[in-house]
Amino acid sequence: MKVGVVMGGVSSEREVSLLTGKEMMAHLDPGRYEVRAIEISHKRDLIEKAAEIDMALLALHGSYGEDGTVQGTLETMGIPYTGSGVLASSICMDKDVSKRLIRSEELPTPDWVTVSGLADLEGADVQRLGFPIVVKPNRGGSSIGIRIVHSADDLTSAVKEALEWDRTIMLERYIDGQEITCSILNGELLPVLSIKPHADFFDYKSKYEEGEAEETVAVLPAPVREQVEAAALQCYHALKCSVYARVDMMLKDDNLYILEVNTLPGLTKNSLLPKSAAAAGISFSRLLDIIIESSLR
Ligand code: DAL
Ligand code: MG
Repeated sequence: MKVGVVMGGVSSEREVSLLTGKEMMAHLDPGRYEVRAIEISHKRDLIEKAAEIDMALLALHGSYGEDGTVQGTLETMGIPYTGSGVLASSICMDKDVSKRLIRSEELPTPDWVTVSGLADLEGADVQRLGFPIVVKPNRGGSSIGIRIVHSADDLTSAVKEALEWDRTIMLERYIDGQEITCSILNGELLPVLSIKPHADFFDYKSKYEEGEAEETVAVLPAPVREQVEAAALQCYHALKCSVYARVDMMLKDDNLYILEVNTLPGLTKNSLLPKSAAAAGISFSRLLDIIIESSLR
């Protein structure tokens, strides 16, 4: 089977995607797959470069990769691809839509408002959130464009900065707690990881640079772990995910808050899902086999 590792892309997470792709290329079993690297640098590249493959192993992150557009193109071309389908990919890329669905499931997520420009800030119900506020591009990833804002004075500049990455900006209540994450592989839970970044929050540097964060299997009281796992699975299903995903959450005084679901979570050397899989005894190569096999079903 000719498997094309589709990587790069045109989003702000291009460099992360190239790292995910590199890791995939290094771990795909050459006895099982005829592997092709498919680096996307322009939106048109996919149609040209994917024509010859039997399956697309998606290493893309962010817009035009994780948001359903590439998935839709591959569907139209009749080429199977890994991970969630068009709908889940689109939903999960949009943090506002995801949180509305999460809330409709009666699952906890921090309060938020969205603004579409600086003018909207005037009318935004910022008081309800209280400071600090997390300012983030509504459709982004890898913490690019995110800032934690401690006072009204800094809000405008943070929103301005985030507007460089998206037209819609989310202002979200900051939860001063423990970052945790729960990955799901083929409908099964992987061990919950706890993240201790050296920075104030799990920013780009802490995500991708060696030694910038401690990521270990979370030690949680059984009822809390059960709640975290049940919520992660519920989100995965409510947001229509399939094959694999990673649900990012916060815990504060054993209270759980769901932040978002990632449909193409990073699989770089420093990424969380491979660490969680390893803790469950699943090697990176086996992880890729499972992703490929379950995507073909
Ligand atoms: N958006 C990055 C790749 C992640 O969630 O891992
Ligand atoms: Mg994300």
